[in-house]
Amino acid sequence: MGGAKSGATKPARANKARSRKEWERILVGVRGTILFDAPLERYTSFRIGGPADVLVEPADVDDVCRVVAQAKAAKVPIFVVGGTNLLIRDGGIRGIVLSLAKLKSIRQEPDHVLYAEGGVGMPTLIGYAIRRSLAGLEWGAGIPGTVAGCVVMNAGTRLGEMKDSLKAVCMVDPQGRVVDIPAAEIPFSYRRAHLPPGIVVGVWVQLRPGDHDRIEKTVKDYLQYRKDTQPLTQPSAGCVFKNPPGDSAGRLVDAAGLKGARIGDAQVSEKHANFMVNLGHARAGDVLALIRKVRAAVKKQTGVALELELKIVGQA
Ligand code: EPU
Repeated sequence: MGGAKSGATKPARANKARSRKEWERILVGVRGTILFDAPLERYTSFRIGGPADVLVEPADVDDVCRVVAQAKAAKVPIFVVGGTNLLIRDGGIRGIVLSLAKLKSIRQEPDHVLYAEGGVGMPTLIGYAIRRSLAGLEWGAGIPGTVAGCVVMNAGTRLGEMKDSLKAVCMVDPQGRVVDIPAAEIPFSYRRAHLPPGIVVGVWVQLRPGDHDRIEKTVKDYLQYRKDTQPLTQPSAGCVFKNPPGDSAGRLVDAAGLKGARIGDAQVSEKHANFMVNLGHARAGDVLALIRKVRAAVKKQTGVALELELKIVGQA
């Protein structure tokens, strides 16, 4: 997929920016990568988004704790990128944006449990499970986000959702301490885990022994179904709207005749009407205008007010 197109968006500074020196003071001792005025489009599957004041990729979980504690002391907000159902507005995000891109380890634990750090991609975890003949994650085939993003969103498909596989999560709380939370203590709803405040840095999934070829075939078949029905080769943020009870948002948008509708470089996918794709240089403003157009048309035609699955953050 296309790389970043830095400079395509200009930061709209609503509040006073901190100097580089101030940021360096706040982040002193952090061992990971620190980038200033960093374009966020390359950190989202939509390839859209204005800049972060500071983007931090902590080296490990201890480093996450340090960033969180020091940001709290300086009263600086933190936003974590990594999910796919995300639209960052063109003005970008003030404060610290955290990417878990360096938290990528996976290990097998007793009783068919896998532990994956938050930055591990769902496809990587599924591949790891297949190689060990562990069944249970097949529902997630084709979901491109990180495992942490999948927990926060309770990501799911028609075959299942994250809560079906989750054993526990490891979080860094707002004080910068590591806490483990059993899945049984987390209320889940459609596309949402009701987690305490903090950052998910690791995920335990409970799997079961299975037949290697059968697991692999299920994943491949489901991935093929997704490839046949969804625009997986174009930048997108997954499904834009939640499915209304008993129906499919994609079917409703399609029935309203909106497949292929376009504003700027944002387009309702011609393959699946609940996806919007970035044809090259789409801005968040284009996507938001297209969302308004689609919601109005579906409401007028069917009376259904579509709710957003997409999370919208940042400044206009
Ligand atoms: N349909 C249309 N036109 C379209 C798209 C779909 O008529 O443009 C019809 C299909 O023919 C089918 C029905 O709508 O009869 C349902 O379509 P599909 O099987 O594609 O499932 P979906 O309800 O649209 C859900 C999830 C997807 C997940 C798929 C496959 C939501 C909002 N969507 O889509 O999740 O990939 O099932 O399991 O829960 C996501 O969450 O980001 C996402 C893409």
